[in-house]
Amino acid sequence: MNTTLAQYLSRSIERNSVGLAVKDTIICLSQASKNIAHFLSKNGLLNNEMGIQTGDVNADGDSQKALDVIADHEIIKAIANKDVAAYFSEEQDTVLLLEQKGNLIVCADPLDGSSNIDNNISVGTIFSILPRKNDSFEIDHITNDALQPGVNQLASGFFMYGPQTTLILTIGNGVAAFVLDNDEFVRMDWEPKLTHNGNQFAINMSNMRFWSQKARDYIHKCLDGEEGTFAKNYNMRWCGSLVADAWRIFREGGIFLYPEDSRKNYDTGRLRLIYEANPIAFLVEQAGGRASNGKTEILSIKPNAIHQRIPLIFGSKKDVANYENQ
Ligand code: AHG
Ligand code: MN
Ligand code: MN
Repeated sequence: MNTTLAQYLSRSIERNSVGLAVKDTIICLSQASKNIAHFLSKNGLLNNEMGIQTGDVNADGDSQKALDVIADHEIIKAIANKDVAAYFSEEQDTVLLLEQKGNLIVCADPLDGSSNIDNNISVGTIFSILPRKNDSFEIDHITNDALQPGVNQLASGFFMYGPQTTLILTIGNGVAAFVLDNDEFVRMDWEPKLTHNGNQFAINMSNMRFWSQKARDYIHKCLDGEEGTFAKNYNMRWCGSLVADAWRIFREGGIFLYPEDSRKNYDTGRLRLIYEANPIAFLVEQAGGRASNGKTEILSIKPNAIHQRIPLIFGSKKDVANYENQ
């Protein structure tokens, strides 16, 4: 008998008020993801141009596409009037205050991989659920709650809109994968694990001339193959959607790298700590892998701003250690 997402959560989550709030929030986010997948499936039909630029830029300077904004609204709709005190989004300049007495903080990248929307390549929604630490509903105080190190996350995951609509989820006791089947998320017969060493690396190679010596040396060693230091032949893959690259690494092992580089505004990488790196790092560690900024474990880093960027290197432990020790 297939296990549904609701059944999985009922069985695995603690039955206290925070546990029940986390369960409810994940179910609400799954509803939002169904709506986002539906909007995406209509892309390109008359009056359904999801990849069109809205003319606005988000707090980080990325131009917003129609689906970025729609996905953000779907999440807000889904978690409003629940046990969530505040929502932090890649698409919002500041916090969105929700329930004054809410126990949880939600951070999200509503639509990851937006450059792929019009290419019918997988995109996704990444989320992180944190405990509320502060009773105050003052913006500064509640913003501090979003700046907890990732190790404090209660749950994280990502929905992926590809040939299948899927979810990879952790609530802190391993990782589970689900697929949308007849409007219901159902557990897959596959448990994401990163305990083996892979032979794939994922990096945007076109940026090589901007990388540090460390990143160049590492990739050169991968390219050296069986005769080189790592004594194995690597394959390279780069989807350009973090969710799709992460999924593949969960399936096949290997390493993902978005290091810092010398381009303007890339000195701390491209990916955002609280919306992208932390939720992925929690999944990776729960699957037995490692996620690092090249030196330090991502989950131990205390964020200093909600839109902070960070170099992100994750995957099989040995591959990530090889990079760190480079
Ligand atoms: P977003 O669409 O949320 O801005 O994220 C895009 C990210 C991530 O999905 C991907 O790994 C990376 O940007 C791709 O960056 P490049 O275009 O620099 O390769
Ligand atoms: Mn993203
Ligand atoms: Mn995004």
